[in-house]
Amino acid sequence: MRYLTVALAKGRLAELSVEIFLALGYDCSQILEKTRKLIFTDEEHKVRFLLVKAGDVPTYVEYGAADLGIVGRDTLLEDGRNVYEMLDLKFGACKMCVCGPPDMKEKLHSTSHLRVASKYPNIAREHFLREMASDVEIIKLSGSVELAPLTGLSEVIVDIVESGKTLRENGLEVLEEICPLSARLIVNRVSAKMERERIRGIVTAIRKQVGNE
Ligand code: PRP
Repeated sequence: MRYLTVALAKGRLAELSVEIFLALGYDCSQILEKTRKLIFTDEEHKVRFLLVKAGDVPTYVEYGAADLGIVGRDTLLEDGRNVYEMLDLKFGACKMCVCGPPDMKEKLHSTSHLRVASKYPNIAREHFLREMASDVEIIKLSGSVELAPLTGLSEVIVDIVESGKTLRENGLEVLEEICPLSARLIVNRVSAKMERERIRGIVTAIRKQVGNE
């Protein structure tokens, strides 16, 4: 039997992703031990787990370096990778929003040249193309996006809001909601056919576990 490879996202989703596979009886608790190891093998079940940057999970799965992956819907929407989205895992629930200082709420649709900073330039561009005709400039950042409106780099941001704490602590608020987000189980298109039975078994077990029947 060949090894089935699962790409898990480092960071926020890591713990809950590992818990899903632990509950299925896979030996992957080592992942939570916070070592520098990036690959973990369950010899009994012939499953390998890769710990990768969230944004790289769909890349590993699209190219077949991983058969399955768990990643946020934000990453899938931003990158538009060619993978099967099999299941909404429900955890990691948050929202993609346009955020900024409170006084931008009424000006959002009337500012002639609106600068939008985001880690998600494609999602931001698509939203503003859909929502308004005015001139919008998207500025790509890699993190700490809330700094952009505070420093004059942009008027607003497009970012993930989970608890809202980061916004509150920086004097910003949600101006518009774009879409809900949560963790998704994705599958490589070829693996879905070649490893149909094993993958179907895993998907069915996870579906039961997350109450998504
Ligand atoms: C994300 C996001 C917000 C924050 C939202 O950033 O970009 O900054 O979390 O969460 P909250 O609503 O619960 O405060 P992340 O922590 O991934 O770090 P980053 O800014 O370095 O990307």
